[in-house]
Amino acid sequence: MADFNVTPWNVEGKVDYEVLEKRFGIKPLDEQLLNRIKKHTKDLHFFLTRQIFLAHRELDWLLDQYEKGNKFYLYTGRAPSGGMTLGHLIPFMMTRWLQEKFGAEVYIQIPDEEKFLAKKDITDIDKLRPIIEDNVLDIIAIGFDPKKTKIFLDTDYAGVLYKQACRVAKRITFSTVKDAFGLTNEANIGWIFYTSMQAVPAFLKSVEEGHNVPCLIPLAVDQDVHFRVARDVIGKLGYYKPAILHCKFLPGLMGDSKMSSSVETDAIYLNDNPETVTKKVNKALTGQQATAELQKKHGGDPDKCMVCQYYKFLFEPDDKKLEKIFESERKGKILAGEHKADLAKRINRFLEEHRKKKEQARSKMDQFMLKS
Ligand code: TRP
Repeated sequence: MADFNVTPWNVEGKVDYEVLEKRFGIKPLDEQLLNRIKKHTKDLHFFLTRQIFLAHRELDWLLDQYEKGNKFYLYTGRAPSGGMTLGHLIPFMMTRWLQEKFGAEVYIQIPDEEKFLAKKDITDIDKLRPIIEDNVLDIIAIGFDPKKTKIFLDTDYAGVLYKQACRVAKRITFSTVKDAFGLTNEANIGWIFYTSMQAVPAFLKSVEEGHNVPCLIPLAVDQDVHFRVARDVIGKLGYYKPAILHCKFLPGLMGDSKMSSSVETDAIYLNDNPETVTKKVNKALTGQQATAELQKKHGGDPDKCMVCQYYKFLFEPDDKKLEKIFESERKGKILAGEHKADLAKRINRFLEEHRKKKEQARSKMDQFMLKS
């Protein structure tokens, strides 16, 4: 039995994604589905071809609908608790790409109550304000179309969301939530209710339009459980169940399955300055041999080398160039120091560009935000 645990609020152990798919009852994103997507998008994002997005729920149904002329919208979200990391960008980048390729509208939920309710160390909900704004700017900077994208905070948009959340909540029992999320009798009642808020944007457009509109939710696989519970309820309310596209976690630089915010050098934050990035990358796990001599002789394993993995997940979109990087790792042609210096440079260039876009995002914020 693989020894790991994945919940929306905690990831422990080394995640085996094949085992996880079985546990969650989600389907692998296979060749046939990828080809079906490609028919419409012409090319495929490397998140799809490299199995960074690796599983789905009813994506085939969603494409049936699309092929019948029934366009879908996209929904994803981010619960603010601190600055965003590189890993947090992945579902948003996928959503932005899908928006462009399918001309889809996007709903982005910012459940600004979630972490306050679920995390003991967040004691003052008002103190989250600057973090929320910072997160929203990071999200806008990814390049969403302002005409087709709506972002809303749960507490600002509650006038619309709350009524729908009650319709969901009435159909979910306490024992279902306890089972699904592993909550105990000590959990506060806000936390128990929260999943019904996260369900709402998955059918909100159908409510607004007065007829059913298909919805696709790109998310990190730890979020699946919310929708495992909600999809049935949404169906019972008479709406389409949302389709889901699941991604893996960006591993931590120190080799953890998910970047951990408690290990200081594990995660790179979008606000990290160049020196910090270089320092963190220098500490990364490379899986290389103990000495330069041995490395040259035996080579290393790209799957265990976090520098290689960061290229794969985000920083080398060109497959041929990626293969070259992997090959030189395998053959021991590149030593850790050089390898890390290259990656740090690449990350810093990316972050510099991102922060420019973030500055420009400030003046666009009003175009994106919904309030009730
Ligand atoms: N719960 C998510 C988080 O912890 C935020 C979120 C809200 C979300 N709605 C979503 C994530 C829909 C993915 C899809 O960040």
